Amino acid sequence: MKMYYSGCNLVLTLIVALLCGQSKGIWPFTSVHATPDSQDIVYPDANAKRVAIIGAGAAGSSTAYYLQQFASESGLSLNITVFERSSYVGGRSTTVNAYGNLLEPVELGASLFVEANPILKNSSEALGLKPKESTPETDGGELLGIWDGKEFVYKQKESGWYYWDVTKLLWKYGLAPIRTQRLVKDVSAKLLKLYEYPFFPFRSLSDRALDLGLTPVTSMTGEQFLAANNIGSKFATDIIQATTRVNYGQNLNLIHGLGSMVCMAVEGAMQIQGGNWQIFAGMLNASNASTLLNTAVTSISKSKSKYSLKTSTTDSLTGNLSTNEESFDTIILAAPLQFSQLALADGLIKHVPDEIPYVTLHVTLFTSPHAINQTFLNLSPKDEVPSSILTTLPKDAPLSEKLEDSVGSPGFFSISTLRTVVNPETLEKEHLYKIFSPKAVTSSFLSEILNVHDLTTINSHSPVTWFHPHKWFSYPYLFPRITFEDPELARGFYYTSGMESFISTMETSALMGKNVARLVVDDYLNIFGAGEGEQKVVKGEL
Ligand SMILES: Cc1cc2nc3c(=O)[nH]c(=O)nc-3n(C[C@H](O)[C@H](O)[C@H](O)COP(=O)(O)OP(=O)(O)OC[C@H]3O[C@@H](n4cnc5c(N)ncnc54)[C@H](O)[C@@H]3O)c2cc1C
Ligand SMILES: *[C@@H]1O[C@H](CO)[C@@H](O)[C@H](O)[C@H]1NC(C)=O
Ligand SMILES: *[C@@H]1O[C@H](CO)[C@@H](O)[C@H](O)[C@H]1NC(C)=O
Ligand SMILES: *[C@@H]1O[C@H](CO)[C@@H](O)[C@H](O)[C@H]1NC(C)=O
Ligand SMILES: *[C@@H]1O[C@H](CO)[C@@H](O)[C@H](O)[C@H]1NC(C)=O
Ligand SMILES: *[C@@H]1O[C@H](CO)[C@@H](O)[C@H](O)[C@H]1NC(C)=O
Ligand SMILES: *[C@@H]1O[C@H](CO)[C@@H](O)[C@H](O)[C@H]1NC(C)=O
Repeated sequence: MKMYYSGCNLVLTLIVALLCGQSKGIWPFTSVHATPDSQDIVYPDANAKRVAIIGAGAAGSSTAYYLQQFASESGLSLNITVFERSSYVGGRSTTVNAYGNLLEPVELGASLFVEANPILKNSSEALGLKPKESTPETDGGELLGIWDGKEFVYKQKESGWYYWDVTKLLWKYGLAPIRTQRLVKDVSAKLLKLYEYPFFPFRSLSDRALDLGLTPVTSMTGEQFLAANNIGSKFATDIIQATTRVNYGQNLNLIHGLGSMVCMAVEGAMQIQGGNWQIFAGMLNASNASTLLNTAVTSISKSKSKYSLKTSTTDSLTGNLSTNEESFDTIILAAPLQFSQLALADGLIKHVPDEIPYVTLHVTLFTSPHAINQTFLNLSPKDEVPSSILTTLPKDAPLSEKLEDSVGSPGFFSISTLRTVVNPETLEKEHLYKIFSPKAVTSSFLSEILNVHDLTTINSHSPVTWFHPHKWFSYPYLFPRITFEDPELARGFYYTSGMESFISTMETSALMGKNVARLVVDDYLNIFGAGEGEQKVVKGEL
């Protein structure tokens, strides 16, 4: 019975769509619709397939966005619900407000994407969001410095870290920067093929990595991959490793070649004014999915062909918990399984994704009227302190295999002076800083870098006027590997986070979301082949 009605609805939808298309300008009510396309027609459809997306980060939001698009293109009727445990949309892409001032949002998680990221670039434009390009605003420019715990191994004026001064690099490192540029271009071109037929969509990322010739890139450490491509170790250690540390909190002896390449692909870096999370909020809004915040999915089981989800909602005012159970035809887990606190019924999935080590990253945001002091960086008082301080290990320092020792002698991954902000109490201009470190920043460390004493309290008149530390499980350690978790864990149960061990970025999570959306729609179309009332046997299934 169900199958029959589904088939019927599909046909109906198509017919109505056709009629509407033809009635342009004749039907008196078309003017209420912006564009009288089939997309704009929503039927209260009791037979719509119910899809649950768990997680409203880049991956989950993108899944919803493209599900809506692909489904409406094929006349498929879906009813999408997005469950989000936290109180906000965006996941690891989120802002906090300096001084609690709504006018001073600052990225706490993912901060940059690049021109060559098609999904973020296109969708942010389509959603009317303004990118803020990270080009230096003043002629004097900013100073970037790479510090090895003792001295600066490289300094660059008039640009941020998102843009390399190739002339200067050439002078210092010979052809290594050119070879790196060429290699980055080559790898980026391969990655971009993942977006297009015949490489898109994909049911196995392992296969696609192989198809695109990226397996050799992920199978080696960055160190090995760069050496194999004739890129000198001094350039690798001084420059490339500084970027793998600031982007992924890992050194070249651990991170795979693909990770090291993505870190150097910074041309056209940008962010969305007011916060990148707005892309994901915009995608959810455009998808018309119903998004339930403060709602964790706690368990999943299956009976007959339906998945049953138990959820737990925290009342945002009282904090009271309420539980619910609903059934769905399709489930998309758009968060790392190991952090999702999901109870999966026995036998629900054939293979449980391996738990993988994630980087523990402390992001510390704070404001202060004080500048970073030269003394701490072994600079002389007349030296300018770089506004972006990246770090690397001293040349020939033994590279530790121990993850917790990765940071080495510098003790932190980066200290950035983000911008000037106005303290709302004193109305004085102050600096807004961001530190990335593997351990929590202590008050003695802050006293040292600012060269101030008495950091016992934080108020609008103290040396540190606002302080916001956050501990993230930010991204996986990108160990060399040749296989990646599949996007389908069981029939009708999809998973996006296998992408993260390949590359963890907002764009690649969004790409996996788009891929899963395509697979979901393709799988429905295979089963409910247009106009046919009978279920087809899907090849290769169970
Ligand atoms: C400090 C930092 C800096 C970074 N810098 C960059 C950068 O500059 N550029 C870049 O592209 N990437 C960067 N990244 C990486 C990027 O943030 C991630 O790769 C990407 O955001 C992951 O998106 P996702 O949707 O896959 O996962 P997430 O963003 O983690 O989303 C998963 C969501 O699922 C929710 N959830 C989990 N379990 C449940 C459940 N049981 N029920 C309901 N909801 C659940 C979570 O609350 C979360 O909101 C950075 C990350 C960090 C932490
Ligand atoms: C989606 O499904 C739920 C549960 O069946 C229903 O309450 C809701 O009205 C549906 N939404 C749409 C837009 O059809
Ligand atoms: C992004 O937009 C460009 C230009 O309009 C288009 O060629 C490309 O296919 C789009 N890519 C995606 C992933 O939407
Ligand atoms: C939300 O989506 C609707 C269309 O579904 C659009 O008209 C509206 O402008 C969007 N709102 C925002 C804030 O993006
Ligand atoms: C989104 O949902 C609202 C109400 O549920 C409906 O009025 C609107 O037409 C829908 N828009 C799209 C693009 O599906
Ligand atoms: C919420 O919890 C409080 C006690 O913690 C209780 O008094 C109140 O009735 C609860 N509200 C609801 C709606 O359950
Ligand atoms: C750094 O500290 C020294 C004292 O140790 C002080 O003389 C100097 O002015 C400080 N520099 C800045 C930029 O605050």
